[in-house]
Amino acid sequence: MKRAAIIGAGPSGFYAADQLLKAEFEVDMYDALHTPFGLVRFGVAPDHPKIKSVTRVYEKTAQHPGFRFFGGVRLGEHVTRCELLERYHAVVYAYGTMTDNRLGIPGEDRPGSHSATEFVAWYNGHPDYADRRFDLDRERAVVIGNGNVAIDLARMLMLAPDELASTDTADHALGALRAASVTDVVLLGRRGPAEAAFTNPELRELGALARTDVLVDPAQLDGVAEPDDATRRRNLEILRDYACRTPGGRTHRIELRFLRSPLEVLGDGEDGRVRGLRVAINRLVTAADGRMRAEPTGEEETIECGLVLRSIGYRGVPVEGIPFDERRGLIRNEGGRVCDDDGPCRGEYAAGWIKRGPSGVIGTNKKCSADTVARLLADADADKLGDPAAPDDAGVLEWLDARVPGLVTWAGWQAIDAYERSLGEPAGRPRVKLVRPEQLIEVGRAEAKKCTCK
Ligand SMILES: Cc1cc2nc3c(=O)[nH]c(=O)nc-3n(C[C@H](O)[C@H](O)[C@H](O)COP(=O)(O)OP(=O)(O)OC[C@H]3O[C@@H](n4cnc5c(N)ncnc54)[C@H](O)[C@@H]3O)c2cc1C
Ligand SMILES: NC(=O)c1ccc[n+]([C@@H]2O[C@H](COP(=O)([O-])OP(=O)(O)OC[C@H]3O[C@@H](n4cnc5c(N)ncnc54)[C@H](OP(=O)(O)O)[C@@H]3O)[C@@H](O)[C@H]2O)c1
Repeated sequence: MKRAAIIGAGPSGFYAADQLLKAEFEVDMYDALHTPFGLVRFGVAPDHPKIKSVTRVYEKTAQHPGFRFFGGVRLGEHVTRCELLERYHAVVYAYGTMTDNRLGIPGEDRPGSHSATEFVAWYNGHPDYADRRFDLDRERAVVIGNGNVAIDLARMLMLAPDELASTDTADHALGALRAASVTDVVLLGRRGPAEAAFTNPELRELGALARTDVLVDPAQLDGVAEPDDATRRRNLEILRDYACRTPGGRTHRIELRFLRSPLEVLGDGEDGRVRGLRVAINRLVTAADGRMRAEPTGEEETIECGLVLRSIGYRGVPVEGIPFDERRGLIRNEGGRVCDDDGPCRGEYAAGWIKRGPSGVIGTNKKCSADTVARLLADADADKLGDPAAPDDAGVLEWLDARVPGLVTWAGWQAIDAYERSLGEPAGRPRVKLVRPEQLIEVGRAEAKKCTCK
């Protein structure tokens, strides 16, 4: 029997697990957190519960007798790459992109300027971010970026307390968002309306928020050429609809402002808190590759604001010993086979965002993982997998138990899941998330003691 370790219990990890189990591998899935599902739990916005229901598919995969989950085990901290290669014929790295791209402008780290990574993880109850504080006592926020994550941030800031009350937003964030004074969000794009990376339903959803007017200056849409791409064409139609609307006098506003690149986060007072954002005004030029590129006109403006959220894409973090492409922020790989200067690394594979970059919806990872597993299985047929010294499932459990004090298995996760749901039920919420590792371990371990290793 061949054995595989999958590092990362997000969508790409689960899709890879499913494929490997079907090929009769035994699969051990590891995650740094005590809970599975990656960005489905800690990324997808809490007011989109239907999207989160994809976890039912992953739960089915976890029912397979050849599957085990080890939560609370961080590759690079609790276990190393070499230790995994000693125990498994194949290791699939599916550990996502855990940090954010930097703007590289003065003032980026001022108090009141935060990355999307931090803000998203905070409102979603990620244990590492539960104690973060955000300056929500300001009236205006600028969200930098024109992707769906930027839309999520703008929407989360503008949702009314009763719209949030029935969600699984972390309790600490519910309280803070309820008390927030932010009434205006400027959503800032460096390129034009036709280049925005929003998808249609997400852009349209902004116009349906109960207490928020969406503002688009019609002048920004003058002379914009019709894009070839259907999503972008439809985005333009939605933006034109917003531009035609007479503001309904609602208490909150989201303004979409295009052709603006951040130059400096301005600050005030002793601690240098954010007071504004200096931006360059751009025009579009066609680059050599045919893409539209933003070029500064030489004009600038300052947008007064007390909060800046930077949403310009996620980025992978290197793990010791695993070949890393610094420029792209990804594991070095060819079609999912991890590679170093000497070519493919025997028995090592990558899937999901850490393989191809931080783009694509949940479903995109299914094909991505299938492509990786196809190569892994081809290598298995060609006898080119790893040759582990100790491919022993009981040995792995002993090793981890000795090494990781707060190990949570699948039975432990099921106990956490049931407990969180029971906390949410009286208030009509899907769950109340536990955000302290010690709570997660306590609930997860209590159950694991009653069961075996699943
Ligand atoms: C804010 C946000 C909202 C999104 N909303 C949607 C949406 O509404 N709909 C949609 O279709 N797509 C959405 N996406 C995209 C979707 O979440 C991704 O396509 C998908 O999660 C990528 O899957 P992944 O498995 O590669 O990575 P991830 O989901 O990030 O999973 C990686 C896992 O690896 C673990 N890990 C990290 N480092 C280590 C380590 N060293 N050791 C062990 N484990 C580790 C992490 O804890 C995590 O569980 C969103 C993305 C973001 C950022
Ligand atoms: N509801 C959903 O389905 C949902 C929700 C959230 C996320 N997602 C998915 O998750 C993926 C990641 O989303 P994302 O929003 O993080 O990334 P994204 O879609 O790649 O958008 C990133 C945005 O940041 C801008 N940007 C990059 N560098 C910049 C800089 N230096 N200065 C100013 N702007 C800069 C980009 O502009 P340029 O185009 O000019 O480079 C782009 O507008 C996407 O595939 C998204 O669809 C889906």
